Amino acid sequence: MRGRLNSYTSRFGRWNELASVRRKPQRSFEISGTVYFPPELYPVAMHPLVADRGDGQVEWLLLRRLYGYLDFTSELESAAVIPVATAISRGRSGLQLPERMKADAFKIVTDEAWHAQVSYDFAHEIELASGVPRAFPDDEPSAFVGRLDVIREQLPHKIRGVEAMLFAIVSETLISGILSDIPRDSRLPESVRDQVRDHAEDEGRHHVYFRSLLHHLWAALTVQERRAVGPQVPAAIHAFLEPDYTRAARDLRTLGLTSEQIEQVLAESWPKGRLARQMADASASSVRYFVEVGALDDGKTRERFEEAGLVGRTAGEEGENGQCGHR
Ligand SMILES: [Fe+2]
Ligand SMILES: [Fe+2]
Repeated sequence: MRGRLNSYTSRFGRWNELASVRRKPQRSFEISGTVYFPPELYPVAMHPLVADRGDGQVEWLLLRRLYGYLDFTSELESAAVIPVATAISRGRSGLQLPERMKADAFKIVTDEAWHAQVSYDFAHEIELASGVPRAFPDDEPSAFVGRLDVIREQLPHKIRGVEAMLFAIVSETLISGILSDIPRDSRLPESVRDQVRDHAEDEGRHHVYFRSLLHHLWAALTVQERRAVGPQVPAAIHAFLEPDYTRAARDLRTLGLTSEQIEQVLAESWPKGRLARQMADASASSVRYFVEVGALDDGKTRERFEEAGLVGRTAGEEGENGQCGHR
């Protein structure tokens, strides 16, 4: 059991009055609005090779993207966040944490179980209302699952286990375009916006918690351990934020696009430079917290953040102990 910090300020004091699981109704899907998902957040739906096929196919793709988001949410909460929060609440995280942090972890488990449940139920309701299946037998699991497995395999054996907490910290401090943009997008069905707004409000409290957890985790790691996990953080950020290419390709194939067309649509919809900038924007707070704890003081870690475009390259940095050029 390790621990060096005592500091923690709880944001869960009014949880009973604020948490969506305690205060908000379960949202029921009702058809309204003009799009199921903002096309700007799913640019394949705006690609000419898709758009020229007619509004019906675009609508189908955007609905499938909404299903993808709901499924991602259920999977992320169940597989990445709840296990970590449960371990903390029961004192099995390996960290010595302030008592209040353990108590708040129970609330996070409850919040996340609710988010997973309502996302599942909501997708089911949309399926009944629209007649568009939410899952196909050959659907792959959300892409982040396999990506995190790859990162896990690259870590030295002695620190396996730390990565689960690290992944939870990363995912809980990212601010995705979905959570920030959808509630304000009047083109979407009101019920979708309400559902995402409820979730985003809960996540505001989680965000602060996991920032604090990173401080506790980092203080407890040895220098060697920090050097082993630090360079993996950019890959973890990308694991959550990078588009699910497999799922997109599968849906484009269903619409009848050829393999060459699919390749073209994917490449032109998510050009590398633009995608890297979007991922840097969405992860700006997470990156700032890793800078805050000193993770980027390690050369290798800083290099990986720079290569991923998450921080700016520092002028004259070669071999120098330059300041981090956080964007
Ligand atoms: Fe959540
Ligand atoms: Fe959360």
